[in-house]
Amino acid sequence: MAKYLEVENLKTYFKTQEGIVKSVDGISFSIEEGKTLALVGESGCGKTVTSLSMMQLLPKNAILEADKLLINGKDVMKMTDTEKREMRGTDISMIFQEPMTSLNPAYRIEKQLGEVFKLHNPNLSKKEIYEKSLQILSRVGIPNPEERIKAYPHQLSGGLRQRTMIAISLAAQPKLVIADEPTTALDVTIQAQILELLKDLQKEFNMSILLITHDFGVVSEIADEVAVMYAGKIVEQGSLYEVFNDSWHPYTKRLINSIPGIKVNRGERLESIPGTVPNPLRLPEGCRFAPRCEEACEICHKKEPGMTKIGEHLVSCFLKEGQTNE
Ligand SMILES: Nc1ncnc2c1ncn2[C@@H]1O[C@H](COP(=O)(O)OP(=O)(O)O)[C@@H](O)[C@H]1O
Ligand SMILES: [Mg+2]
Repeated sequence: MAKYLEVENLKTYFKTQEGIVKSVDGISFSIEEGKTLALVGESGCGKTVTSLSMMQLLPKNAILEADKLLINGKDVMKMTDTEKREMRGTDISMIFQEPMTSLNPAYRIEKQLGEVFKLHNPNLSKKEIYEKSLQILSRVGIPNPEERIKAYPHQLSGGLRQRTMIAISLAAQPKLVIADEPTTALDVTIQAQILELLKDLQKEFNMSILLITHDFGVVSEIADEVAVMYAGKIVEQGSLYEVFNDSWHPYTKRLINSIPGIKVNRGERLESIPGTVPNPLRLPEGCRFAPRCEEACEICHKKEPGMTKIGEHLVSCFLKEGQTNE
């Protein structure tokens, strides 16, 4: 199947007064048309910086490098600012983590949604824009769209705000949507509804999705492929089935064991992972996970592991390398 997004050796660093912050440090992945890749990892691993790199929405102090960054066959690294603006909305669009930071509090929903339609279809009349706006609001499950379209963001509940964000990001019918922790701020029932909605819309529009989350529970609901990220690197990657049921990396295993209700017997305590993600200004020598890894050996603290590949399943861990060499 055709690859919609291809990323090879992407690096996103930030120049700061304290030094170079290596937020994303050489990651590669791709997404096929109509498929979902979940990028999973704890807070601070570089997931949002990865999405902002795809969207070309990085601050001025960012240094972006990639051997390949193709969206819909177009080379993003060679685009002009105008081409980047045209790409956003139609080729790629993003649902942000916290809708209040990306919805403008000063404008009614009607204006914010209308602007997206106007930007991408300059010939639409006011009436057509209004009708399309109502249509998409109702498609994302907003009841009484005629009323809600007049609201300011703060007048909507968290769930409705998230749905409004989804409507705005889908208004130009993008072929790839990045959903950056789209359900983190929501309660469990609404989380499930939003994931269902994303899955339905994906089928309807044959969209690709890059789903970003720290929660493996969410991943199991929706992903085809999974990439596990730790301290700016991808440590394990493969199909949902392989990464979930046959995890190789100790970090992946620990993340899966911290999902409520999964692989935990009654009476056993949920494991959270002791320690914290290293500061990308001061990365440890060797494997970046080694300081927190119960299985780490001497070599893990000295050398960075490369990628071991078996079939389409990839892992960056000396333990697996050892096993495969035996
Ligand atoms: N503009 C920036 N300047 C310097 N450091 C940044 C900047 N943006 C993000 N970072 C750092 O990059 C790392 C990864 O951040 P982020 O991608 O937001 O993590 P995640 O989304 O996985 O929680 C963090 O340590 C963060 O502090
Ligand atoms: Mg984030």
